[in-house]
Amino acid sequence: MEFFSRKKTPLFFVIMLATLTTLALGQTRVGFYQTSCPRVETIVQSAVAAANRANPGVPPGLVRMFFHDCFVNGCDASVLITGSGSERTAPPNSLLRGFEIIDAAKTQLETACPGVVSCADILAIAARDSVLLAGGIARWQVPLGRRDGLVSRAADTANLPAFNDPVDVQIRKFSDKGLSTQDLVTLSGAHTLGTAACALFSYRLYNFNNTNGPDPSIDTTFLPTLRNLCPNGGDGSTRVALDNGSENRFDTSYFGNLRSGRGVLESDQVLWGNPTTRTFAQRFLGVRGLVGLTFNVEFARSMVRMGNIEVKTGTQGEIRRVCSAFN
Ligand code: HEM
Ligand SMILES: *[C@@H]1O[C@H](CO)[C@@H](O)[C@H](O)[C@H]1NC(C)=O
Ligand SMILES: *[C@@H]1O[C@H](CO)[C@@H](O)[C@H](O)[C@H]1NC(C)=O
Repeated sequence: MEFFSRKKTPLFFVIMLATLTTLALGQTRVGFYQTSCPRVETIVQSAVAAANRANPGVPPGLVRMFFHDCFVNGCDASVLITGSGSERTAPPNSLLRGFEIIDAAKTQLETACPGVVSCADILAIAARDSVLLAGGIARWQVPLGRRDGLVSRAADTANLPAFNDPVDVQIRKFSDKGLSTQDLVTLSGAHTLGTAACALFSYRLYNFNNTNGPDPSIDTTFLPTLRNLCPNGGDGSTRVALDNGSENRFDTSYFGNLRSGRGVLESDQVLWGNPTTRTFAQRFLGVRGLVGLTFNVEFARSMVRMGNIEVKTGTQGEIRRVCSAFN
């Protein structure tokens, strides 16, 4: 009862008002589960670490999954729903990896604190932890409090950026979600990790744009490597590192590769071809005469911004019992 003493009451109401205002604005916050599920971050982190020990190729898939979740109906775990016609069945999501990691974390969380932690928040934490595992980045705080969505439609994935989108289309798709051109370049830097299937870029290697030759923006010393990994008419599911030479390290070498014509996806390489996006890449590389940007710092900021796209909070949506199905 001490808490309600006359002296403390005004402060109490100020705090209540601030909290209610935050909820009304649909915002997330650091420490959301501090009392309701204090072990949430430890549990998610151990699930991601276990998956990494089993197959270090998979956790980068969670970073991409988070991006695909946030861009379609907001960060609400709509990408995790299985069944006919769900987002997960749409072509842009066909190669997503790591669903079993989210399910494993959810199972443990339902034991530790049943019905409390949303799948959308599990994915947000797991994406951050996947970056941490690749080293080279200070741990950033993930604002939480997302609720799980009640809608998941394959058709809604049309607004996801595609591997062959020109820069202006990429910029528009990000700006439609309230993200800047700097966010676009920064977040594309996630391609310092992970791999891409030959099927998504081998058109650049042999008969690009009906020229009967390769995409001229590919470094001629890198071309034989890519052709070797992805033979013409070969297995489209073979996976190739997006950041050649530094594929397991979270660093700026991805931007250096773009400068050298060693981007794997067309959507990556064109970021160097456009003066506006190139300038951001150069700032990460510390090019003289430009104001530098620190990749680790900017990446964390942009991830937090992306993680707030159209979030559901308060009483919106639900807390799923199983991440792959609505309650
Ligand atoms: C213009 C924007 C983007 C485009 C067109 C794009 C496209 C792609 C494509 C085509 C792949 C290969 C998928 C596969 O073959 O499995 C890929 C992989 C990946 N993307 Fe992006 N991406 C974009 C932005 C982002 C963003 C914003 C993030 C996260 C912040 C991200 C994180 C990743 C990661 C980590 C991988 C590797 C996945 C794995 O190894 O399973 N991408 N991306
Ligand atoms: C593809 O070819 C067309 C017609 O020759 C040309 O206008 C266009 O710029 C080319 N696109 C790329 C990406 O090179
Ligand atoms: C990176 O490229 C070099 C040659 O440019 C090649 O020898 C090497 O196999 C490539 N590494 C990966 C993981 O693709």
